[in-house]
Amino acid sequence: MISLAGGLPSPDLFPVKELKKASDEVFDNDGKTALQYGMAAGYDKLREQVAQMTRDRGVDCTADNVAITTGSEQSLDLVGKLLINPGDTVLVEEPTYLCTLDILRTYGANLVGIQMDEHGMRMDLLKKALKEHPETKLIYTIPNFQNPTGHTIPNARREEMEKLAIANGVVILEDDPYNRVRYSGKAQFPVKHFDNTGNVIYLSSFSKFLVPGLRLGWMVADPSFMKKLIPMKQSTDLHSDNLSQYIASRYLAENDVTKHVKQICDLYHKRAETMMKELDENLPEGSTHSNPEGGMFLWVKAPETVNTVDLFKECIKHHVAFVPGAPFYSNKVKQGTFRLNFSNADSATIKKGIDRLCDAMKEYMKKNEVKAE
Ligand SMILES: Cc1ncc(COP(=O)(O)O)c(C=O)c1O
Repeated sequence: MISLAGGLPSPDLFPVKELKKASDEVFDNDGKTALQYGMAAGYDKLREQVAQMTRDRGVDCTADNVAITTGSEQSLDLVGKLLINPGDTVLVEEPTYLCTLDILRTYGANLVGIQMDEHGMRMDLLKKALKEHPETKLIYTIPNFQNPTGHTIPNARREEMEKLAIANGVVILEDDPYNRVRYSGKAQFPVKHFDNTGNVIYLSSFSKFLVPGLRLGWMVADPSFMKKLIPMKQSTDLHSDNLSQYIASRYLAENDVTKHVKQICDLYHKRAETMMKELDENLPEGSTHSNPEGGMFLWVKAPETVNTVDLFKECIKHHVAFVPGAPFYSNKVKQGTFRLNFSNADSATIKKGIDRLCDAMKEYMKKNEVKAE
């Protein structure tokens, strides 16, 4: 079975040796503090380092605006818990990260999907939705290499999103775990860069550019949010793993992170190119794929008469797996869609996997008399 389904970063580039060295040094030098309880907002030194990384991306912030979390997943949950009451409207990209949809549903949000084009969330439709839903509390966006589509929002649209949010008194939740994994095109500013009023809560993570197993992410927000989010974090788990925080901090201090990130980008670029070339040559007529500038995913659109859950079953018979599109939709599912991951298989495996996928698609379409749209 070749799985192009999961969302795992490539372990080939996990800096195991460097993390072991950092870990040994933490035990040798800071063992007693690293193994003690810590602060809810996180290890001070790591908060400083994160604040510096965030300033480097054009966001005006200090360590006081930073809280370390147990991955972006926890940040999403904390923001949901803080801001969403049953019935509150949240505008989300359609499709979007399925775990966020689950979190928002858990807190009783009324989810309204905003369609995207190849440059992410459409601002004309956002404007319309804000008019139709004046009660909107939150806009949720993944501006870089979106999960699941791979789309990236350009600066001008980011600025417009922020202007619309301000004009309508809405908070933006910017979920940005993939930003460093850019292998082509030009880096865009975070939406938070355009924030002069403190209405953007920015999230990122160590999972995609370092390792996910340390379970470390962070939030950057205005003090008005921080004074509620930090006690909430404390009542959830007191603080994120202190040892992990010390190790990550030492790793950042002692290693050339830019060089490490470039290796990840080069590898993912190669894998993405292999996948896209293979799709271009073999996808059945009427099917298209997105063209991401980074991240780990691309999105395939087959004709809408293709039921991708049934197609998935056909693919399993061909020993290849993907994630059907349906769970990524907040409301009305667009049929015929699915997500492919290119970070966690080598080029030869990707090539074989896409060949199997395209064979299965052709067989499914023939059997079900699917016509290209
Ligand atoms: C858009 C998005 N947000 C958040 C997460 C969670 O990441 P973390 O490992 O930091 O909890 C993921 C993980 O795949 C993701 O794709």
